[in-house]
Amino acid sequence: MPFDVLKPKVNTILANDKEPVKQRLYEVCELLQTSLGYYDWVGFYFANHEQKTLHLEAFAGEPTDHIVIPFGKGICGQVAESNANFVVADVKAQNNYIACNMYVKAEIVVPLFKSGKNIGQIDIDSHTEDPFSVEDERFLEWINQQVAEIL
Ligand code: SME
Repeated sequence: MPFDVLKPKVNTILANDKEPVKQRLYEVCELLQTSLGYYDWVGFYFANHEQKTLHLEAFAGEPTDHIVIPFGKGICGQVAESNANFVVADVKAQNNYIACNMYVKAEIVVPLFKSGKNIGQIDIDSHTEDPFSVEDERFLEWINQQVAEIL
């Protein structure tokens, strides 16, 4: 499903203030994971800046052991510190990478900013090699901006 078709669906989910934020985030994860064939796992991590840890708040796809990730560790932990998108075409080429399952070939992590502060991130794992383009980056940045507005 094209990004332009997904965007209004994301807005409808996020605007549903009858549901708790965590449920709405879960529904966004599920929408992306079921609508985009190369999005095999989709999750939102949020930062605890005092403990310097990331915490998995919502996800769709196979359950992961990595519910808490220290800043600096893995692709996610690096983005917590760099404040920059991290697109990994081939996870095997990364030294500082936390494997979630053996089928994952690529990953993209985009930071989520609220009032200019990096408070979390969206993380996508793919079983397809090198699937992410600059359009994915722009789409995921847009999603994070929409999420920031309901936090
Ligand atoms: N691969 C991530 C860990 C989280 S899982 O992808 C769900 C990383 O290296 O930070």
